[in-house]
Amino acid sequence: RRQFLLGGAVAGLGAAAAVGIDYALNQKPAPAAPSEPMNGEESVPFFGAHQVGVDTSAQAHGMFIALDLFDAVDRDGIIRLLRILTDDAARLTQGRPALADSEPELAASPARLTVTFGFGARLVARASAQSPAWLAPLPTFGIDELQPEFSDGDLLIQIAADDPLTVAHAARMLLKDSRSFAVVRWTQAGFRRAYGTERPGTTMRNLFGQVDGTANPRPGTQEFDDVVWSRDGWLAGGTGVVIRRIRMDLDKWDRLDRSGREASVGRRLSNGAPLTGGEEFDEPDFDAKTAIGFPVIPQFAHIRRARGEDAEKIFRRAYNYEERPIGAGLSDSGLIFVSFQADVARQFTPMQWRLAELDLLNEWTTPIGSAVFAVPPGCEEGGFIGDTLFA
Ligand code: HEM
Repeated sequence: RRQFLLGGAVAGLGAAAAVGIDYALNQKPAPAAPSEPMNGEESVPFFGAHQVGVDTSAQAHGMFIALDLFDAVDRDGIIRLLRILTDDAARLTQGRPALADSEPELAASPARLTVTFGFGARLVARASAQSPAWLAPLPTFGIDELQPEFSDGDLLIQIAADDPLTVAHAARMLLKDSRSFAVVRWTQAGFRRAYGTERPGTTMRNLFGQVDGTANPRPGTQEFDDVVWSRDGWLAGGTGVVIRRIRMDLDKWDRLDRSGREASVGRRLSNGAPLTGGEEFDEPDFDAKTAIGFPVIPQFAHIRRARGEDAEKIFRRAYNYEERPIGAGLSDSGLIFVSFQADVARQFTPMQWRLAELDLLNEWTTPIGSAVFAVPPGCEEGGFIGDTLFA
C-alpha cells in the first residue's frame, strides 16, 4: 500500500533516497484521530470568581494594550464599553465570533485565548468608585528611563493565546469595539516558547537564557491565593498588575562570561538551580560561604536582592519581546515584566526599591515603560467585567 502511495515519486529516485523515504514513512506518528482535540480547540472558561489570564498557565503569545478613555466617556459610557468588551471576550475565548465579527472564521481556534482587563486610576475615578491607595504610577526609581509610549493608561487589555493569529484577531475585534470610547496609548507584543516546544509546566526562559519564574507561588495553592487575590471592596477576587517594559542589553550581555552571568542572578543557567543547589526547585542557601569566606550567592545577586528580609511575594508572568534594531546594535530586546499581587505598594514597590539600589542585573537591564492597573474580579454570565465597581 505504501508503495502504491509513493507511486511515481519513488520511481524517479535512487535506491538510497527511496530507503530514506521508506524510513521517514515508518517513523511518522499516526495522524490524530478526528475526535482528538487539537490545541487550537482548547478553551479556558471565561466566567468565574477571578478573571482568566492570571492563574492560567501562560500561553505562548501575549499582547498588552493600554487605552486612554476619551474625555466625553462618563460613568455610563464606561459601563457600555465594559459590557461590549466582556461580551466580545466571552465569545472569542470560547471559539465563537464576536458580534459583527468581520472575520468569524478566525475565531474558530481559541488556542487557550484569555482576555484580561485592568483599570487605571482615571477609569476608577470616572466610575466614581474608590481607588485602591496603590493605584497610581510607581515612584521614580534611579534605574528608570521611562518612555511615555510604554507607560500608564486608563484601561489595560491583556490578550494571550497559544496562536498569534488568534491573538491578532481578538485584539482587532476588541479595539474595533473600543474605538468610539478610547484611543490606543501603547501596545506591546511578547512571546514565550511556542506551544508543544517544551513539556507543559516547564519554567520559561528569557532572552538572557535564564530560567525565569522558578520562585513563583504556584497557582492552586493557598500561598498563591494570598499573594495574588485581593480581599478589598470591589476589587475582592481581583488583583493588581504591574507591567514594566525592561530593555535587556543582549550585546553587552554577550561580553560577560558564564560564571559572571550565573553570579549576577545567583542561579545556574543550565537548569535554574541556585548556586548552592543541584536542582531548579532547591531552596537557595543564602548563608553558604565559599572556601575563602565569600557568600556563594553574592550580595549583589538578583535573587538575594529580590527576596529581601521581609519576603514580600509577587507572581511573575512575563513575556519576552524582540524588535529588529536599527543602527549599530544587534538587539532591541527585553522582558515585558508582568507581576500580579493583591497590593502593589506593599508587595511590589519595596522589592523594586531594593533592586534599584543594588542588583547586578541592572548592568544589563533598563526599565523603559511602567504601568499599574487594578484587575477587577471575574463576572458571572449576564454580568460584565468591572460590574462590582458600579454595584
Ligand atoms: C527571580 C530575571 C526583573 C523580581 C529572578 C530569576 C531570574 C530573574 C532569572 C531567578 C529565577 C526565578 O525565581 O524566577 C529577571 C530579569 C529581569 C528581572 C532578566 C529584568 C529584565 C525583576 C523585577 C522584579 C523581579 C523588576 C521585581 C521588582 C524577582 C523575584 C524573584 C526573581 C521576586 C524571585 C526571588 C526569590 O528567589 O525569592 N528574576 N528579573 N525581577 N525576580 Fe527577577
